[in-house]
Amino acid sequence: MSEIIHKPVLLKEVIGCLNLAPGKNIIDATIDGGGYAVAILEKIAPEGLPAGEAGKLLGIEIDNTLIRGTELRIKEAGFFENAILMNDSYVNLKKICEEKKFEPDGIVFDLGLSSWHLEQSKRGFSFKKDEILDMRFNPETQPKTAAEIINQYGVEDLEKIFKEYGEEQFAESIAKAIVRARKSKPIIRTQELVGVIEPAVPEWYKHRKIHCATKTFQALRIEVNDELENVRRGVSAAIDVLKSKGRLAVVSFQGLEDKMVKEIFKEKTKEGIIKFVVKGTIKPTWNEQKENPRSRSAKMKIVEKL
Ligand SMILES: C[S@@+](CC[C@H](N)C(=O)[O-])C[C@H]1O[C@@H](n2cnc3c(N)ncnc32)[C@H](O)[C@@H]1O
Repeated sequence: MSEIIHKPVLLKEVIGCLNLAPGKNIIDATIDGGGYAVAILEKIAPEGLPAGEAGKLLGIEIDNTLIRGTELRIKEAGFFENAILMNDSYVNLKKICEEKKFEPDGIVFDLGLSSWHLEQSKRGFSFKKDEILDMRFNPETQPKTAAEIINQYGVEDLEKIFKEYGEEQFAESIAKAIVRARKSKPIIRTQELVGVIEPAVPEWYKHRKIHCATKTFQALRIEVNDELENVRRGVSAAIDVLKSKGRLAVVSFQGLEDKMVKEIFKEKTKEGIIKFVVKGTIKPTWNEQKENPRSRSAKMKIVEKL
C-alpha cells in the first residue's frame, strides 16, 4: 500500500530520551509507518527475551489507509505479538488506555502529517500536485473537506483561519480572492486554489524560498483536521495516563503546535505534575537537516511525570 515510508525525524533523540528498557510499555500516539515504533520495539521487546518479560507498544494512527501498511511492517519486523495497533485519534488516549488496560512508561507524539500524505494519498495536501482538495486524515470518520471550507466559509472566517493557523500576512486578500473566484465556479482542485492565491499576493511574495500557497495550505489542513485542538487534548490526556517517572516526548513541526505544547508543559510543571527533562527544545543535527530537509523545522520537548 504505502510505498513511501516516512523518514523518521529526531529518531535517535526520541529513542534516547524515553528511558527504554526490556519490559517497558510505550505508546506511539502517531505511529504512521512505524519509523519510531519498530526502533522502540527493538528496545522493549528484544529478540530472545521470554514472552512474559517483553514490553508492549500501543500504536495509534488516525489515518485508516496508513494503519494497514503499519500492521504489515510491524508483522514483518517480527513484533506482531508485542504491538497493539489502534485506528483512532490520540484525542481518545485515555479511553484507549482504559479499554486496553495499558499503563504507559513512555509516550511519544510526532505531530503533523506523513510524507505519504503529501506524496501518495491523493487527498490534496500538496500545492505541488493537482488533486481534489480533501485533506482529511480519515475520510471515513471526518465529514468536512478542504473544498467545502474553501467554497462555503464566509470571507471573514477564511481570513481568520489563514491568519491564525497559517500566520499568512496576505490572509485578507487571499480570502477575498477565493470568495470572488468561487462565484463563477467552485474551487475543487489544488491547482485551482493555487491559481487564485498567486494573483492575490504581491510579486515579491512569489519569489521567496517557500511557495506563496504554503501557509494557506497549512491553515486549511489544520482547520480540516482540527489539529491544534487535538494536540491540546491529546497531550493533556498523555500527561494524565503516564505512569510516575514516565517520559513524554513531543516532536512538532510548526510554531503554533510547539507553542501549544510549551504552554501545556509550563502549566503542568507549575502544578507540580511534570518536570522538564531537558530545558527548552531539542533540534535535529546539521547532518540530519542535510540528509532530510523535512526535519529542518522539527523541535522536540521532553518531560517526566512526577
Ligand atoms: C509525522 S507523522 C509520524 C511519523 C512516525 N513517527 C514515523 O517515524 O514513522 C504523523 C502521523 O500522525 C498522524 N496523526 C495526525 N493526527 C492524528 C491524531 N489526532 N491521532 C492519531 N494520529 C494522528 C498522521 O496521520 C501521521 O501519520
